[in-house]
Amino acid sequence: MSADGPTVSARPTGQVQPSVARGRADPCTMVIFGALGDLSRRKLLPGIYQLMKEHLVDQSFSVLGVGRDDSQTDDTFRSAMRVALGQSDEVQGFDEALWQELCPRLHFVSADLTNGADYAVISKRLEEIERDRPKEECNHLFYLAVPPSVFEPIVRNLSKSGLAPRTRTADERPWTRIVIEKPFGHDLETAQQLNDLVLGLFAEHQTYRIDHYLGKETVQNVLVLRFANSIFEPIWNRQWIHHVQITTAENVGVEDRGKYYEEAGVVRDMFQNHLLQLLALTAMEPPPIMSANAVRDEKVKVLKSIRWLTPGTIPENAVRAQYTAGAIKGKPVPGYTQEANVAPDSTVPTFAAVRLFVDNWRWNGVPFYLRSGKRLASRVSEIAVQFRSPPHLMFGQTSDVMRPNTLVMRVQPNEGVALNFEVKVPGAAVALTSNIEIAPVDMEFNYSEAFGEVAAPAYETLLLDVMIGEATLFTRSDEVEAAWRVVDPLIQYWESHKPKRMPTYAAGSWGPREADELIEADGVEWREP
Ligand code: BG6
Repeated sequence: MSADGPTVSARPTGQVQPSVARGRADPCTMVIFGALGDLSRRKLLPGIYQLMKEHLVDQSFSVLGVGRDDSQTDDTFRSAMRVALGQSDEVQGFDEALWQELCPRLHFVSADLTNGADYAVISKRLEEIERDRPKEECNHLFYLAVPPSVFEPIVRNLSKSGLAPRTRTADERPWTRIVIEKPFGHDLETAQQLNDLVLGLFAEHQTYRIDHYLGKETVQNVLVLRFANSIFEPIWNRQWIHHVQITTAENVGVEDRGKYYEEAGVVRDMFQNHLLQLLALTAMEPPPIMSANAVRDEKVKVLKSIRWLTPGTIPENAVRAQYTAGAIKGKPVPGYTQEANVAPDSTVPTFAAVRLFVDNWRWNGVPFYLRSGKRLASRVSEIAVQFRSPPHLMFGQTSDVMRPNTLVMRVQPNEGVALNFEVKVPGAAVALTSNIEIAPVDMEFNYSEAFGEVAAPAYETLLLDVMIGEATLFTRSDEVEAAWRVVDPLIQYWESHKPKRMPTYAAGSWGPREADELIEADGVEWREP
């Protein structure tokens, strides 16, 4: 039973329709810059391990880790990765035999990536690793798992050293692909500069700007739900939809990333990428085909249709706040300004709620409420589409006690979809002509219940896509810039208008009172999933 009433479940009722698009990866060496860092240990290695487990990488697949630490060797790198896999939540039931297969494929070389001369060492190591591989199979995937401050020297050195030549077409072999982690730029201007630099050295088809949210099973499911079914499309518009709430809430605080977070804040960290991607997928028009450019064209159109926030409209459409000390799962936790590497008088927001409008024919006048924060009451990401109330109620209830239908796409956890609607409570005690008792129920589809497996970790999906050359789940240069255009005015306004009193919320709550007021002004309430 859900909190609101009974639940009915959805199960697969037919055969799985396999896709022809995804396949096995090309032979390649994945070169990880920043191989001993957090991302590499927590996400990339587990992703590689899963790909090996599912036999999705090529027989000759190998990894070359690159890091500054010159005390590291192949052996110490392998041991560190073994520990990382053992600790990862994304690896279910560590398989020693599989590790024995993966271990010899891992190599390490120490280099200062800002020093052009060190790229000869990387090149030499690659030659040794690929000694027995035909030239056309010496494909290279360069993964920049490094701080953004060194993106620029690295892409310059990659190109100058000849390690990553520009290719004219996506079909050329061997291929070279470059994966760039977020944040892609610090604002619109720096994102444009980075795009200019990267696209001056490499082709767009070689460049993979990662937003790991796009690799999440349920985020991809937004497209399938909308466009592989015909029942949603006729009502997916301003006539039937009252508003959309997009939430990415986290339990965790800034952890050991205080230094990064002080520079970023929640808008750069979550809105510019993850939340705007969720909005774009929810609001986009159906593309003619499922190809990288067709999908991205439609997403760019949505991002460009978002009404610009201005200094005049920001105060009534956006709320920022910071967490103070509180409790998460019963344990006391400190406030943001007490975290390591955070200024005691910091005004960097750890929470934001924003009302946006997509000014086009389909969405005119429909508010999209976006919110995200750290140290909130629960870890949940979802897109909730709330439909309009029935135009006329004849069962005796008033519209304020009836909950309008809501379709919730749960990104995480409990990945799935729920549709909420009203039913008659059984019982013949009341005659049909008088008041009928009505209750809301949830029709539930839960991925793991229906398919008996947990969703593939986002990085597994995305790494495979890079190895296949499938760019649909990566952001194109114009898309990244269009997203910055949406958030830049807000960031600039907040940075230049420091609050007299920073709004706060206790860790473990659902955010500040000001966020409730923002949405309640429209007669709506935030969901508390
Ligand atoms: C990252 C942000 O992009 O996404 C983090 O930098 C955030 O601050 C993380 O915690 C959330 O991702 P997920 O997959 O845990 O929801």
